[in-house]
Amino acid sequence: MLKAMMPTQEPGWTLVHEGYNVLTENAVESRFALGNGFIGMRAARSVSRGPTWTSWLGYIRWASWPRCYLAGLFDVPNTVPPVPALVPIADWSRVRVLVDGESLLARDSDAIVASRTLDMRRGVLLGAWTDRTPAGVAATGQELRLLSLADRSVGMQVQRAVLGFDGAEVQVEASFGLAGLGMDPVTLHDDLGVWRTEGTRKAVAMAGAATLHVDGKVVPPERPFPLRWVWRFRSRAGQVAELDRFVAVTRADAANEDPAPAARAAMARTRALGWRAVLAQHEAAWQARWDEGGVTIAGDDEAQRALRFAIYHLTSAVNPNDERVSIGARGLTGDAYFGHVFWDTEIYLLPFYVATWPEAARALLMYRFHTLNGARAKAAKGGWKGALYPWESADTGEETTPDSVLGPNGQPVEILTGKMEHHISADVSYAVWQYWLATGDDDFFLRAGAEIVLETARFWASRAVAEADGQRHIRHVIGPDEYHEDVDDNAFTNMMARWNIARGLETAALLDARWPDRAAALRESLALHDAELSDWHDATVRIATGFDPASGLFEEFAGFHALEPVDLAAFAGQPGPIDMLIGRERTQRSQVVKQADVVALIGLLPEVFPGDTAERNFRHYAPRCADGSSLSASMHALAAARLGDTAMALHYLRRGAALDLDPDPQSAGGVRIAGLGGLWQAAVMGFGGLHLAAERPRLAPRLPAEWRELSFRACWRGRRFAVRATPADLSVTLIAGAAMEIEMAGAVRRLDPGATVTVKL
Ligand code: BGC
Repeated sequence: MLKAMMPTQEPGWTLVHEGYNVLTENAVESRFALGNGFIGMRAARSVSRGPTWTSWLGYIRWASWPRCYLAGLFDVPNTVPPVPALVPIADWSRVRVLVDGESLLARDSDAIVASRTLDMRRGVLLGAWTDRTPAGVAATGQELRLLSLADRSVGMQVQRAVLGFDGAEVQVEASFGLAGLGMDPVTLHDDLGVWRTEGTRKAVAMAGAATLHVDGKVVPPERPFPLRWVWRFRSRAGQVAELDRFVAVTRADAANEDPAPAARAAMARTRALGWRAVLAQHEAAWQARWDEGGVTIAGDDEAQRALRFAIYHLTSAVNPNDERVSIGARGLTGDAYFGHVFWDTEIYLLPFYVATWPEAARALLMYRFHTLNGARAKAAKGGWKGALYPWESADTGEETTPDSVLGPNGQPVEILTGKMEHHISADVSYAVWQYWLATGDDDFFLRAGAEIVLETARFWASRAVAEADGQRHIRHVIGPDEYHEDVDDNAFTNMMARWNIARGLETAALLDARWPDRAAALRESLALHDAELSDWHDATVRIATGFDPASGLFEEFAGFHALEPVDLAAFAGQPGPIDMLIGRERTQRSQVVKQADVVALIGLLPEVFPGDTAERNFRHYAPRCADGSSLSASMHALAAARLGDTAMALHYLRRGAALDLDPDPQSAGGVRIAGLGGLWQAAVMGFGGLHLAAERPRLAPRLPAEWRELSFRACWRGRRFAVRATPADLSVTLIAGAAMEIEMAGAVRRLDPGATVTVKL
């Protein structure tokens, strides 16, 4: 076997899937997907794939979904309801092998060996196969596939096969899936295709190159048309055939922009490098990311594997060089949710990027800045001021949540989140603020961040209306718990809104004091006057909080405590989400929570829980939560770790880890990346107790009993430091940047460049 095709041997870095099963194939393709933040590719088998649909008597479904996606490539498909969706680009990986005219096919009965290995350390998908033709002739091969992290336009596939038979006519075909692309073809020649989306008129260029060597010699291909190569040769037992294929992909958003020259240039530099150098650069880029973003857990292989899997997908999902795109709810691993961006990005993913990859975090926040006008339009449409970010966002910042979806019995079910789930606006500001505190990136704050915070604060002040009881109420919303729609004064929403308005006031004051020119310019362009600021101040004082000092509980929303209590433990082990088990109506009438809601507030704003009330709220709400969303478990893990209940936190971390790591058919539409971001938070911010405050970072580790070590790195205001926590002590080493202070388990220490400081725990 070629060394390049050997998976990382050190344990805990690979995921292996044996065989092929039409029922679970889709989930495997999501979990093992490749990505570099620009291109995403599901891990469909490339060789001997055969048709990708299967049929049973009566209906047809897709067994395999060999999709490639490009971040930001949205168009509105002809479906009901018409919302923008990621347009798939050509699948460039397919290979067909025919022996004496008969296809090698990897149906269940014909695949003798079929394994896929996701090598997370190197960011490559490895395949091994032995297939036979109906006539019984077999061939054995291996594959390596990647989407380059060093050059995001580039993808590559290397196939190597050893033939086990003499004297047969072998035909190898490498093609691009050009049919059914859903785009207008513009050109297709010289192995370069250009397409434009029909509605949004965005363009994609794809250049391809493929070479086949047999026993080290190039075999000239037949070229029936561009992006298709056919080779024929006579077999000899023991013969080695090697197929290398490159793809270069570029996107152009403007109607007058041509993506072809950039694709051609990417292809030229890739061919000049050759596959070994492309692989070497890609591996080096992954190694650099693991160095910065990796987490080591000693004593708990399961948690270690889960964290690696999470960080693998988090690294694959983001592109620090493109501020026009963000990360969809399934990354670029599947088309559930159409590639739309939710609060998932700001609340569940951003902390990882802020701490380990600030350039990526900045690009994601700039996407919200570039879509601010869409948010302003949404607020205006609702009769409010400022900016209301869309619950689901594609490329323009317009609201893209579908109005309805088809329910299980084919009836349309109205979707209210796009109209009522408003906390997203505070979530975006929260992420802006955390990024700014941790990085001190004033340039970003002045250019973009401050305006986002001011405009969202303004929205909330207009949204929180003063009523006869003297309070300001936020009515008709949906909180994170989407089982309850059209509620009043959702505690999470109101507390985040209050926080957002307070940060708006702080921003205005800070700008006035430190950057008066920028303050004057912004105040003018936003027409922000002192009278409005006093109204904001009034809002921070009078917004209804739902907090009851007697019980120490926040009421999730007005009237929640009066709903029917349901003993969720009685449903444990029953398949399906609770709203299916007890019905939608009863769920709405019950104290059944879909996901962390008040508990998410413990995770985000611990300072609003006086005394032991964080604990009280957690104990009250956790048993009422049905974990009906993949975002739920990891937020519970973070909150429990913060409370010091490490056993409970670990229980939730494992529950979150099981979601996409284990064969769960729900991963079919893509990995649920928010849950993966939440795992990192649970480990690093929960068990590691990392907090990147403006004055100095803080670490307060509390490890679960079985963990012998937790190590990770973080960035803070131009520095990078490495953390190692054990049950006995905590060490921090300043790897880059100037001397700084850090709070370690309560003690403030000075860190000098290159030096390690250790405190006993
Ligand atoms: C969750 C939301 C989430 C969305 C996308 C929903 O099921 O309730 O909180 O934003 O999925 O992941």
